[in-house]
Amino acid sequence: MTVLINGKAIAATIKEELKAQLSARPRVATLAVILVGNDPASSIYVNNKHRACEYVGIRSLVMTLPDSTSQAELLKHIETLNQRDDVDGILVQLPLPAAIDSQAVIQAISPDKDVDGFHPQNVGALSMNHTGFLPCTPAGIIELLKRSHIEIAGKECVVLGRSNIVGKPVAQLLLRENATVTICHSQTKNLPHICQRADILIVAIGKPRAIDSRYVKPGAVVIDVGIHRDSAGLICGDVDFNAVQAIAGAITPVPGGVGPMTIAMLMQNCLIAADRHAL
Ligand code: GUN
Repeated sequence: MTVLINGKAIAATIKEELKAQLSARPRVATLAVILVGNDPASSIYVNNKHRACEYVGIRSLVMTLPDSTSQAELLKHIETLNQRDDVDGILVQLPLPAAIDSQAVIQAISPDKDVDGFHPQNVGALSMNHTGFLPCTPAGIIELLKRSHIEIAGKECVVLGRSNIVGKPVAQLLLRENATVTICHSQTKNLPHICQRADILIVAIGKPRAIDSRYVKPGAVVIDVGIHRDSAGLICGDVDFNAVQAIAGAITPVPGGVGPMTIAMLMQNCLIAADRHAL
């Protein structure tokens, strides 16, 4: 029997735990979110983050800026938020309009308010096993595996995708958990063959239903990070769920797998930021 890894339920448990911890704090934690432009997917993500904050008891300030916002204006807003003592976490929703240099924006966020874990200081901390903020989706994947009692140490893990947001950091976290890690990408040769080796296959390539049963070892754990809407209007992941479900040992659904975990980990990072801030 294939196990369905219920990210929605696990995220709900984490949010309950955080809600209890937050209610015991004398000072309310605050997250500031900046959304530039009107990308519909980004608006949905920001809304979901706002709702999660309200649920767990984090004060959420959402700043919506027009598509025409200049980089200088955006940097000025970030600087104000960096200085504000009542703001614990700052998140700038990506992608940004093409005229804005995302790296410059990420680097402008104070590393101790960088609840996305994207600032070079936090990226470096991750790679050196120092304390920093972990990026939310990779941290959510590890938490999903741990809370599903899936052993990571000594396992063959194959990561499909090498993005700064998911592929590279999740590979670092798996390494930290003592897995043997292979990172694959668009120029990897013999991709199905390498994927077949995986005890744990993490897929973050941004291509709807691209990974079918040819890529999966029988009994493997398959984590699907993708989210897309297909031509029929159905939400799907990077993995062809129906094809892979028959062969995998455990698999995350889309929706209801990794997505809710990303938000739960963001809430956790906000609590960590608030606690460090209160010191
Ligand atoms: N866009 C897609 N994923 C993310 C994320 O985790 N954080 C931010 N800020 N933007 C995103």
